[in-house]
Amino acid sequence: MLSSKEIDHLNALHALSDPKAILEETFKRWPQASLSFSGAEDVALVAMATKLLPKPRVFTLDTGRLHPETYQFLQRVRTHYHLDLEVLAPDAQRLQAMVQKKGLFSFYADGHEECCGIRKVEPLRRKLATVDAWITGQRRDQSPTRAEVPVFQIDPAFASKEHQLIKVNPLANWSSTEVWNYIRMFDVPYNALHDRGFISIGCEPCTKAVGPNQHEREGRWWWEETTIKECGLHRRADQG
Ligand code: ADX
Ligand code: SF4
Repeated sequence: MLSSKEIDHLNALHALSDPKAILEETFKRWPQASLSFSGAEDVALVAMATKLLPKPRVFTLDTGRLHPETYQFLQRVRTHYHLDLEVLAPDAQRLQAMVQKKGLFSFYADGHEECCGIRKVEPLRRKLATVDAWITGQRRDQSPTRAEVPVFQIDPAFASKEHQLIKVNPLANWSSTEVWNYIRMFDVPYNALHDRGFISIGCEPCTKAVGPNQHEREGRWWWEETTIKECGLHRRADQG
């Protein structure tokens, strides 16, 4: 168990580290750490992880509503990096009950929380119960809700007294430009949607391309307020 002082120390130590060095520290301390891969530009982390470990643990949450391009890309990454990509599915009964009651597009009417809860958060919770550390592609420049994301933290949403779960955000200090420079410099494969105006990519019905000068987050859950554009994967302690 790390104390919050030790976490602060780790963050101070890596305040200026690049993401690969942060991953290296992560795998040294938590060799079983699992990387959560959304099928977007966080592929940069998959590329870095495969330089450090022959078979890094990588999982993705298959909501059932991803774009065809994202499914194709997930498979491409799986093959390209020889990964045993773990594809996590939602609980069939809960999903079926929601869709039966509310139809397939309930999130436009009453918000994304319930659908994300079933399709993403619950499968993630199940997965995180089995690991001591997970790695995400969150960055501070992605959204106002992420402006203070630390590199290392005790997970504010999924850790408990009995289970200390560490969350590592190696891209926290990187800008979108730095991520894309890395992808281009190392010829990392990327989701075909990025060449069609998509920056941030989630589920198909809840993601759209953005226009010139629009922030990437404006393409996600665009019918909702900026401050609630988190689906529960990355809820902060102050967000309940
Ligand atoms: S979201 O919460 O709004 O959907 P976002 O798309 O910005 O998250 O991605 C931030 C990070 O959350 C990703 O780099 C990844 O680590 C994790 N993540 C988001 N969606 C998924 C997914 N479907 N499967 C696995 N990880 C995901
Ligand atoms: Fe459902 Fe949209 Fe959330 Fe995907 S992003 S789980 S479709 S509400």
